[in-house]
Amino acid sequence: MIIGGSASQDLAAHVAEELNDDLCYVETKKFPDGERYLRVDGNIDEEVTVIQSTGYPQDENLMELLFLIANLKDLGAKKVRVVVPYMGYARQEKRFHDGEAVSAKIVANLIQAAGADEFITFNIHEKCVLDFFDIPTTNISAMGAIAEYIDKKIDEKPLIVAPDKGAYPFAQEIAGILECECTYLSKVRLGPDKVETRIVDVEGSSDETVNVDSVKDKKAFIIDDIIATGGTIVNAVKILKEYGAKSVDVCCVHPILVNGATMRIYSAGANSVISTNSLSADSSRVSLAKSIANVLRD
Ligand code: R5P
Repeated sequence: MIIGGSASQDLAAHVAEELNDDLCYVETKKFPDGERYLRVDGNIDEEVTVIQSTGYPQDENLMELLFLIANLKDLGAKKVRVVVPYMGYARQEKRFHDGEAVSAKIVANLIQAAGADEFITFNIHEKCVLDFFDIPTTNISAMGAIAEYIDKKIDEKPLIVAPDKGAYPFAQEIAGILECECTYLSKVRLGPDKVETRIVDVEGSSDETVNVDSVKDKKAFIIDDIIATGGTIVNAVKILKEYGAKSVDVCCVHPILVNGATMRIYSAGANSVISTNSLSADSSRVSLAKSIANVLRD
């Protein structure tokens, strides 16, 4: 039995369809004072899977997820598998400055304390977040689904570009599937919404060693795990255009897309912005339903 929280209804419905499983109806509403109400409609199975991303509004979606898990256990479910395609707060996996709350750890503890028996997510920002759980965890990669999308979209070998070194393994994964070239750019973060980007040789020999030939006349696809303010991607698009890319398309797993990010990326010269449906956005054209179904089948 699949149960979709209000942040992941469409995805939950498609996972249920893939698995030929029942999709349970959940009634949610807000009381006039802002508190949430949740009711699971009908009888529940002994084993259920809850699907709920905890993106914006993070606190409401997280609270609903906790209500769902604890309520299902209370109603008699023996095993609750929890799929959080995008886990909010995962980017605060440590204390960067004295006194900060390690939000990712607190959220992991809450999910577990609510009664989750298993935790499944996609391309978690830092893998160490999964170590905060004492239950089995799975970190699914969306790169296969994104590679399939790129493959269908163009009829020549693309160049896959990571906008920073941290995203290079994603680019390598996609390039491996599509049997094409990949490279990465050099990024320095100057603040939460300010980054500086340079093009470097893939071997990283020096900032002067510009790898122009790998970009010129190529259909470039930028890949990142998250697009938030779009600062990282805007810089990457501009650089690839400057160095002669024929076109630049932008892909990511988690489309947070705040502060007019989509418009700024298009204004920088991107051909398209596409993402998975870990979060609902205009860009959410790559479905994670099959990937989730495959893991749940195991
Ligand atoms: C950083 O390590 C991530 O992979 C993304 O590059 C980052 O979160 C994107 O943030 P923004 O869109 O605000 O530049």
